[in-house]
Amino acid sequence: MANNMNNRDAEYRFYSTDDAVDEFYREVIEGLGRHQRSIPPKYFYDSKGALLFETICEQPEYYPTITELAILRENAGEIAASVGAGRVLIEPGCGSCDKVRLLLDAMQPHVYVPVDISCAQLQVAAANIAEDFEWLEVHAVCADITDGMEIPELNGNAGRLVFYPGSSIGNFEPDDAVAFLALLAKTAGQGGHLLVGIDLEKDHAILNAAYNDANGVTAEFNLNVLQRINRELDADFDIDAFSHRAFYNEAASRIEMHLVSTCRQSVRIDGHTFDFGAGDTIHTENSYKYSDASFRRLALAAGLEPVECWTDADGLFGLHLLEVAGQ
Ligand SMILES: C[S@@+](CC[C@H](N)C(=O)[O-])C[C@H]1O[C@@H](n2cnc3c(N)ncnc32)[C@H](O)[C@@H]1O
Repeated sequence: MANNMNNRDAEYRFYSTDDAVDEFYREVIEGLGRHQRSIPPKYFYDSKGALLFETICEQPEYYPTITELAILRENAGEIAASVGAGRVLIEPGCGSCDKVRLLLDAMQPHVYVPVDISCAQLQVAAANIAEDFEWLEVHAVCADITDGMEIPELNGNAGRLVFYPGSSIGNFEPDDAVAFLALLAKTAGQGGHLLVGIDLEKDHAILNAAYNDANGVTAEFNLNVLQRINRELDADFDIDAFSHRAFYNEAASRIEMHLVSTCRQSVRIDGHTFDFGAGDTIHTENSYKYSDASFRRLALAAGLEPVECWTDADGLFGLHLLEVAGQ
């Protein structure tokens, strides 16, 4: 489905492949039925979750956003020179589309394609971009990016850059990350590029603090997924009977986020009953941390050639430019 959307005098194209409710129900029932109960992290981002994520990015402990923005600000010119002008810039999981503004200024692509599962936030973000960058064609796609990354037919044969910041690649299991990078490579096409943000391995205290901010915003973000399930799937989670837990799992090089049942309880979702003991958890997110070398190995396994990597002075975060290898 494609629509022309207007925001004051700015216009962008909006596409939606929304059959999300059935999939949400199926994946929640399936995940809660597992021995280690789980809910996929993509379901964090209803309207409230998207706003809470914006607030997480403003917390002093949450270094990734501010660090990645600084790397982009400092190196946007060099990135643009490496990639070339007049490109199609595609951003899966674009969120608020804040970071890309630095690239739009430096690269002057002719088309921008923001893609996100959070439709309401996407519409606002795309409208703001269309308004602030009048010379730019904007095609916003509301879709699940793990479902094949269908990008609208675009005019011209300009090379593509797929921008995937925020260290979201760390939410995939490493094997799935390789498969997803290969999917992004297919989207970029031969000779196209990927620019991927990576949260680097570091002092565990910094990592643990980032996912346990003192203001409790990450806790609220984590718990909000239960509120969403109550509202959209007619469930009866007692939100006060769950608590947020996030910790660095050193053996796996990942932050794990869980929701911990604080007592014995049963939860009902549409005829299904899930029994929890005190201390049982629902695993809601992994965030894998990489070194530059371990991430390069993933990229090579996905058929991508590492071109360049930019980082900050403290080595907290990396931004990798990769090229889709030829046949
Ligand atoms: C951690 S936020 C990052 C936002 C932004 N890219 C940044 O770097 O600040 C993840 C974003 O990806 C979106 N997202 C997560 N899973 C998705 C999926 N399977 N398909 C499409 N969007 C997804 C969320 O809605 C959210 O906007």
